[in-house]
Amino acid sequence: MSKKVTKAVFPVAGLGTRSLPATKAVAKEMLPVVDKPLIQYAVEEAIAAGIDTMIFVTGRNKDSIPNHFDKSYELEKELEKSGKTELLKMLRDLLPPHVSCVFVRQAEALGLGHAVHCAKPIVGDEPFAVILPDDLIEDGQRGCMKQMVDLFNREQSSILGVERVDPKETHKYGIVEHSETAPGVGRLKSIVEKPKPEVAPSNIAVVGRYILTPAIFDKIENTGRGAGGEIQLTDAIAALMQDEAVFSYEFAGNRYDCGSKFGFLLANVEYGLLHPEIKDDFADYLKNRVNNI
Ligand code: UTP
Repeated sequence: MSKKVTKAVFPVAGLGTRSLPATKAVAKEMLPVVDKPLIQYAVEEAIAAGIDTMIFVTGRNKDSIPNHFDKSYELEKELEKSGKTELLKMLRDLLPPHVSCVFVRQAEALGLGHAVHCAKPIVGDEPFAVILPDDLIEDGQRGCMKQMVDLFNREQSSILGVERVDPKETHKYGIVEHSETAPGVGRLKSIVEKPKPEVAPSNIAVVGRYILTPAIFDKIENTGRGAGGEIQLTDAIAALMQDEAVFSYEFAGNRYDCGSKFGFLLANVEYGLLHPEIKDDFADYLKNRVNNI
């Protein structure tokens, strides 16, 4: 019988050092793009993909994430009292009733592979999605994870969201080599974490979207520390592809790396230009401003 993806893991226990000092006391995933924290965009993308169980792997200084998804009785009461019904509805609709949230702790930031493994007891023996909230992806329609779930439903194999990057930047990503099986879809032949440009097998980079089969957990358990001294998900995927097919998928849409200052700024500009409340004023401002640089 074919399996369905119903659970998403959000690894949010990283330290966010590239975004300091903003992330000294505030979780990186709570930084807002226009008016919504990154983690909310990620959860909305999962919901749009038909996922109903959200598993957050959190760490120190991340209490604001569960708080964001909890019901806020005091705030709702105040909004009700002051007749701010639209805001009240927006808060109440943040999570549809069929969606549940589970929080697990990663006691020490030992790497992305280790963070994903922390979700094993909740994921169980099912395929699952992994979404890194700092990679914000705008596709103008069904969402990147929905695109990947549609492909998973056909292939029933692990899938990595990939994007072609500047060949000079391969040292920032997991880089794959694949043989194309359909437009934008490839079967993985190799994967390596953060290779220098001169040894990178391609410029096809894994970004923050994955669908993984549960076989990945055994592979993570047998993965030692890799690049940067961390337990790397990339190394576990390299082991997984020895046993089963793993696909890469060039999703449609634009990705903004909100873990970097430049990417975060771009995301705010692009989402500002899409936001119904401010887009016209913001576009006028930008046009004037650009003429005066
Ligand atoms: P990053 O490589 O962006 O690391 O992790 P980071 O610590 O968040 O940020 P910088 O590089 O110090 O600025 C990619 C994703 O993996 C999670 C992060 O929270 C982020 O979503 N992660 C990373 C963990 O949950 N645990 C870890 O041990 C490492």
